[in-house]
Amino acid sequence: MATDASTDASTASNPLPRFPDGFLWGVSTSAHQIEGAAELRGPSVWDAFTAEPGRIKDGSTAAVACDHYHRYREDVALLADLGVDAYRFSVSWPRVDSPGGVGLDFYDRLVDELCAAGVRPVPTLFHWDLPAGLDWLERDTAARFAEYVSVVARRLGDRVGKWITLNEPAEHTLLGHALGIHAPGRELLFDALPVAHHQLLAHGLAVRALRASGATDVGIANSHGPTWPASDDPADREAADFYDLLLNRMFADPILTGRYPEGIGELMPGSAERIAADLEIIAEPLDWYGVNYYAPTRVGAPQGAEIEFGGVTLPAELPFSVREIEGRPRTDFGWPVVPEGLTELLTGFRDRYGDRLPPVVITENGCSYEGLDDRDRVAYLDGHVRALHRASEAGVDVRGYFVWSLLDNFEWAEGYARRFGLVHVDFATLERTPKASYGWFRDLIADQRRGPVG
Ligand code: FCB
Repeated sequence: MATDASTDASTASNPLPRFPDGFLWGVSTSAHQIEGAAELRGPSVWDAFTAEPGRIKDGSTAAVACDHYHRYREDVALLADLGVDAYRFSVSWPRVDSPGGVGLDFYDRLVDELCAAGVRPVPTLFHWDLPAGLDWLERDTAARFAEYVSVVARRLGDRVGKWITLNEPAEHTLLGHALGIHAPGRELLFDALPVAHHQLLAHGLAVRALRASGATDVGIANSHGPTWPASDDPADREAADFYDLLLNRMFADPILTGRYPEGIGELMPGSAERIAADLEIIAEPLDWYGVNYYAPTRVGAPQGAEIEFGGVTLPAELPFSVREIEGRPRTDFGWPVVPEGLTELLTGFRDRYGDRLPPVVITENGCSYEGLDDRDRVAYLDGHVRALHRASEAGVDVRGYFVWSLLDNFEWAEGYARRFGLVHVDFATLERTPKASYGWFRDLIADQRRGPVG
């Protein structure tokens, strides 16, 4: 376990600056990672992927996961004790699609329980668990998504105000369709680009569907991080710019400006006229923009060989190579701890998009560490909350911060080996035990409510 978080930990004793009134403190989860009760929903692409030998590092499945489906009352009680304003969860499309429509009943109960506990429900409508049989390479999937979104909005819209369309279409494209590390396990490299376009179109159509149902508080959760060139060498800078374009700009530009970055629109499926018409839908105005932030990425020119990075093998033919960020504490996942990357990211976004950037909500931020006395997690979160405040002082309109995650859970291809929770889950007994970081976050929220520090 990395313990070299002393620089961040030393700031933990300083009082935390106060965030504006109305700032949302929350935690995030996703359906496939916590719900279990797989027999009570339709199959998703993740079920098929998990069943393939060797895909999940510890050979586990999400069939039971945290059994949140049956234990949601206990989990909502944990949220209430934590004192969060809001809870970001995801609605499982394959559960909503299950025979008899009983899947939606679950979210109905969950939303009622949250409202009764005074916690605002913030559903994400797609967090990677696509119903089996659907495919993001097909344009029609975007229209199917919008139909499903209308069904969910009709049922929950009387109690849900804040909606998130998609989670991290960039990762779902890259890991799921370009590199084959996540479901559905395709290794299409640049032929995966239609998957990005169709998800962006699905996002725009979903915004329209939500608006039609009366929603006035709609956003997306996109993953972003600064890209740091490996050196000043022009070849490294060029490679870093390209990576930044693929992971950051390709998913933010169309939504915030109605355009793809130069050179990208031409690679998308369909005629120029069709792409232009799609971009009008994709750029449907949002009430806020969600950012999932974990770490920056250091990128250099291609090295002509496969690269092992963060548990992922990157093929040699990519036009960039990912390098280690040295001299930083690391999470158990091996990700570097760089809180100031969050300030850099947000001020950079403000500079790039100006008035087109709506208020920002951090929809995910967190780290994997073992243990109940998780001081490294406290140091990580403390550092990032301070970095967020610095962005706010620098003029970025920041409205909320959601920790990933409430519970230890099924961390995709890593299985249960990576623990991101504020609450420990014993996967043999399913017992929940709050960690030190849970107490830290509860105190932070209570202090913030108490008014100005000092
Ligand atoms: C994000 C995902 C989330 C979780 C965290 C660690 O990319 O959105 O489901 O896996 O990473």
